[in-house]
Amino acid sequence: MKVLDVMKARRSVRKFKDTAIPDKIVNEMLEAARLAPSPGNAQSYMFGVIKDQEIKERLARAAGGQMWIASAPIVFACCADISWDIAEQPEDDFGVIVNKLRFNNDFLNYLCEYPDPKARVTMFENGTSFIPAEHIFLVAASYGISACFVGYLDIQEANKILNLPEHISCFYLLPVGYPDEIPCEKYLKSIDELVFYDQWK
Ligand SMILES: Cc1cc2nc3c(=O)[nH]c(=O)nc-3n(C[C@H](O)[C@H](O)[C@H](O)COP(=O)(O)O)c2cc1C
Repeated sequence: MKVLDVMKARRSVRKFKDTAIPDKIVNEMLEAARLAPSPGNAQSYMFGVIKDQEIKERLARAAGGQMWIASAPIVFACCADISWDIAEQPEDDFGVIVNKLRFNNDFLNYLCEYPDPKARVTMFENGTSFIPAEHIFLVAASYGISACFVGYLDIQEANKILNLPEHISCFYLLPVGYPDEIPCEKYLKSIDELVFYDQWK
């Protein structure tokens, strides 16, 4: 399948068949995640492969009771390394320089005064697993398998359920399986609504 066709086939599904995903495909998904780009090639994402029914159900409860999550044969726990604190980095640290440029000094200084460093790094790492997780989703779609990002999640609770060490946090869940529903047609903005050329006019 061409990449664009896979993207067209990729739709979120919230009901899965009770059919296992072959290991070969799971490994391909993980390889796709491994190939993802990351800032400075930090590769600070990690993925949990959750198959245990009880753990899936506990995660579903941590996701505000979205119990359909537990019907997926595999739930990927999309995690990131949160061991660093921008407030502790030297001024010439590349991450500090980049973030100062992006968000400006005052805002960064304000964030650095926040007393809970874990909350700060959780904000910074929020998007870390997005691209690799989308790679997983696209490989899934290329095999007629589907998934759904789950961001409505009590992160602290998920970390406890997954027994994660202090320096790793789960940010999203990605339940994956053979679809047992046909997603309804979705509204898509037109290219004109999404794009501007050269400068906003
Ligand atoms: C970051 C992110 C978080 C999401 N969180 C949830 C969620 O908690 N529960 C849910 O049912 N869908 C969730 N979704 C799925 C979106 O609702 C879905 O992607 C959107 O409606 C577009 O549909 P499509 O994926 O079929 O194109 C999330 C999607 C993204 C990208």
